[in-house]
Amino acid sequence: MKQYHRIFILTGAGISAESGLATFRSANGLWNNHKVEDVASIEGFERNPALVHDFYNDLKKEVQGVEPNAAHLAITKLQQNYDAEVNVITQNVDTLHEKAGNQNVYHIHGQINQAVCLNCGHVLETWGDVDTETVCPHCQVMGMMKPNIVFFGENLLCMDTVERLLRQSDLFISIGTSGVVYPAAGFVQTAKYYGADTVEFTLEPTANNFLFDKHIYGKAGEMLPQFVEELLAI
Ligand code: APR
Repeated sequence: MKQYHRIFILTGAGISAESGLATFRSANGLWNNHKVEDVASIEGFERNPALVHDFYNDLKKEVQGVEPNAAHLAITKLQQNYDAEVNVITQNVDTLHEKAGNQNVYHIHGQINQAVCLNCGHVLETWGDVDTETVCPHCQVMGMMKPNIVFFGENLLCMDTVERLLRQSDLFISIGTSGVVYPAAGFVQTAKYYGADTVEFTLEPTANNFLFDKHIYGKAGEMLPQFVEELLAI
């Protein structure tokens, strides 16, 4: 294990699984119980905004009821004790990274406690319900608020920062993502191209596991703290 200077941590739903939040593509995953096109596409939102608001309002309540797990806390320990810049780029819309005290967190698929006004672009931070009656506090228009979740086909958020960090990082760690949704699934290839070492934490081999130098299979809540201890022992 060598000393790293800038670490890029990509997380997916798997890092929040041990906190009790469902992943998307597992046996009882979110996408097994809901149609992606109904709740995660612009067409679905235009077709039935009330259904989409209900889905994310319910998810918002679930997120409020859970706590970060040992994997989230291991990232905080790494950021506080290891002499490197550690950035967290998450596909997750939950706020467990922040709740665990993680710094430098970038939500590329949006955040569950935010809604964006389609009339003026204002981003409303709220843990309360948002629906078709919600009035934008900035432009006062009613019924134009959309969950600030990146739907399939929309552009990811924070991509300027992500692209810079992919070029500059010397260690790329992927935690709890199946590696099937692009552009995030392609980040490891970019990091590798620019010379980063690459490590993957999942339960089983993923779609792009051939791009990782090292695979650590098992629950992130158990495996990541051990990996962090090894880094800190250098
Ligand atoms: N520890 C480590 N890995 C885990 C754990 C765990 N306790 N539990 C599940 N995993 C792994 C699974 O092995 C799987 O590879 O997490 C991954 C979860 O994959 P998905 O359910 O596909 O979630 P994710 O990769 O985050 O999905 C990416 O797809 O639907 C969109 O926008 C949505 O952000 C999401 C994106």
